[in-house]
Amino acid sequence: MTSMSDDPGYLDARSVSKSFQGTRVLENLDLTIGRGEFVSLLGPSGCGKTTLLRMIAGLLPVDGGTITLDGKVISGLPPHRRNVGVVFQNYALFPHLTVAENIAFGLRARGVSKPEADTTVARFLDLIKLPDIAGRYPSALSGGQQQRVAVARALAPHPDILLLDEPFSALDRKLREGMQIELKSLLRDLGITSVFVTHDQDEALVMSDRIAVMNAGVIEQFGAPKEIYKNPKSRFVLDFIGASSQLSGVVAAQEEGTLSVRVGETRVRVAGHFRKGADVVVAMRPEDLSITEHGTTPDGMNVFPVTLKDRIYVGARSHALFSGAGGEKLAIELSPDLADNLNVGQTYSAVWATDKTLVFPGAA
Ligand SMILES: Nc1ncnc2c1ncn2[C@@H]1O[C@H](COP(=O)(O)OP(=O)(O)O)[C@@H](O)[C@H]1O
Ligand SMILES: [Mg+2]
Repeated sequence: MTSMSDDPGYLDARSVSKSFQGTRVLENLDLTIGRGEFVSLLGPSGCGKTTLLRMIAGLLPVDGGTITLDGKVISGLPPHRRNVGVVFQNYALFPHLTVAENIAFGLRARGVSKPEADTTVARFLDLIKLPDIAGRYPSALSGGQQQRVAVARALAPHPDILLLDEPFSALDRKLREGMQIELKSLLRDLGITSVFVTHDQDEALVMSDRIAVMNAGVIEQFGAPKEIYKNPKSRFVLDFIGASSQLSGVVAAQEEGTLSVRVGETRVRVAGHFRKGADVVVAMRPEDLSITEHGTTPDGMNVFPVTLKDRIYVGARSHALFSGAGGEKLAIELSPDLADNLNVGQTYSAVWATDKTLVFPGAA
């Protein structure tokens, strides 16, 4: 099955707003998700991710705007009249019910017969790779097992959409990474549309077809993980996703969409549209930077003189930390062997492609 279809508006939030005690938390938010897509809402704590998810689930009314699911307006409906599955951070399994009874709960509530529910429970226990725990109680399960059961319980009634609110945040890193890949492949196989809330950029990058980056109640950027990483539309997105080196400068000249930005004594070239004299920040991703001992500027490249300050060995790569003459900081990813051959205190040239250079308004 495919993970995405060309149906653009399976879930459609239009101009959705929400306030708590007079404070606006979501501001005329628009979000359109295709059938079968896995979309993450990614942003810092308090930016409104859970609020949006709860409004899709019907656990919280919208103040303004509409939410449509598969062509049907659902924003006025109570939760049980929306065919949504929800998985919360804290599992929320019923402690007095067995695993099988937990998974069957939504089915029985919909009038599914006992034998049919049993078949579905067995199928989902297989899908979550826990075929032998049907008779256990939640208290006898690990955190990871409980969360798998919570996913099975949400999926068993065949919801139109699955909503997950930081479902792995209580799990340790190793387990979390395993479950991310497992869940992604399960949901893809089932072809179910999913909205996944997380504040963890790596989790969003690993799992998502598209990521909606949220900041203070608005979506700053909505796109595929690679697009958001390679082409962040704002300083907020640049800073929130991945690392970057940033240089503050002033636009010295611009012609035909190419800027010449003065950073200290150096000119940096970058595609962009800013007026002459504008304060800008030029940014590069660590893997786009490299180091030479020579100061010549090949075509299409930027060169910036830097002094090696420190090397941090992180396994497969080393982070080499450099500074420019004006105190600018550049972090460059190098192979550990290459990094070992550089001398702390020596001056080198940082080089990177003009077309791998990003530019944003404002001072650093
Ligand atoms: N029931 C509520 N009453 C008052 N304020 C709330 C309520 N729920 C959320 N908020 C506030 O709304 C903002 C967004 O919260 P939330 O959606 O939970 O953020 P996130 O899930 O992104 O961390 C926060 O400032 C939070 O304090
Ligand atoms: Mg939240």
